[in-house]
Amino acid sequence: MQRIQDMQLSEKRVLIRVDFNVPMDDTMTITDDARIKGALQTITYALEKNASVIIASHLGRPKDAPDSKLSLAPVARRLSELIEKNVQLAPDCIGPSVKSLVEKIMPGDVLLLENLRFHAEEKQNNDAFAQELANLCDVYINDAFAVSHRAHASVEAINRHVSVKAAGFLLQRELNYFEKAMKDPARPLTAVIGGAKVSSKLAALENMINHVDKIIIGGAMANTFLKSLDCNIGKSLVEDDCLWAAHSLLKQSVVKNIHVYLPVDAIVASAIQPDVMTCSVPVREIPQGQMIGDIGPATCLLYAQALQNSQTIIWNGPMGVFEMEPFKNGTQSMIHCVANSPALTIVGGGDTDAALHQAGKADQMDYISTGGGAFLTLMEGKTLPAVSALNH
Ligand code: 3PG
Repeated sequence: MQRIQDMQLSEKRVLIRVDFNVPMDDTMTITDDARIKGALQTITYALEKNASVIIASHLGRPKDAPDSKLSLAPVARRLSELIEKNVQLAPDCIGPSVKSLVEKIMPGDVLLLENLRFHAEEKQNNDAFAQELANLCDVYINDAFAVSHRAHASVEAINRHVSVKAAGFLLQRELNYFEKAMKDPARPLTAVIGGAKVSSKLAALENMINHVDKIIIGGAMANTFLKSLDCNIGKSLVEDDCLWAAHSLLKQSVVKNIHVYLPVDAIVASAIQPDVMTCSVPVREIPQGQMIGDIGPATCLLYAQALQNSQTIIWNGPMGVFEMEPFKNGTQSMIHCVANSPALTIVGGGDTDAALHQAGKADQMDYISTGGGAFLTLMEGKTLPAVSALNH
């Protein structure tokens, strides 16, 4: 893969595709700027090399037309603060007005294009749209790891229309860390997989089982595994259509000699609510009418022991409903174990990231991915379409 550090950028118009799809509240205030910070190295590097910098991103899921609530204006302001430089926001991402702005920018200038998804052609991976974007630059840099699992025009089709292209520092970092964890890792390699839905993680589990030494399962997705082992899980969230797949995964793990850890006890309540009464019970004794909201204390201990000798840990998904006080201990205990582990620790997924920030332990991980879907796609063993296109 070509890398930005191998490119001649001086006095070139450099289009950097980033993922500034950042969370915002109702007042359009950015609530987490990690993705903007993640791309700063690439942006400042291009500026230092005397490039004219054009930045492109999507934001949210507009209905293929301009939507003022999804303008990149707040991002332009935040980026400007972070790089201590004026960031001009273009009124669109293609068209005559953008072309004339691009013609005027000088080395050291930064122009942020408006939300790519205001055009349906972006998600359609439209070639003509990609060509128009490509026409804006001499050099194309992909630094948008978090959207690289999408075959969208600005990350996939565009590669057919630019002759000079490379990966930015963030994209390189994301791929390198993941590769370090998966290809020839220090062992034991343990995957910690949680979250609500087993259906969204099955493909990842099916791939990870071929690479890891241990898999620790938490979150509501563990319920489906427990039910597949004939555990009565009361009225807990379950995906009945995944029971067979869950059971078959457990059988495979025995054949492959991979230890899969499931909860042995759980925090249950009559409803998953912030002020509800809870109790901890063994998973074989869950009262009818109760729901699982978190892993229990014995499970926390079991999982801590399982992680103790791990040399590499990949974690995606919380252990329980960590946003609510009565159900946050399992995820906190996992955070404590991973944060204090000497292993190489790599974390992905928005909820896990949020839990780490809530606990103030984000800086104790070796790497926190900026990707949710893209990270999961790597865990599924698939190549990212935008990365394949960049390589050809
Ligand atoms: C993300 O937030 O995961 C990426 O920006 C991709 O967004 P999308 O799921 O709307 O395609």
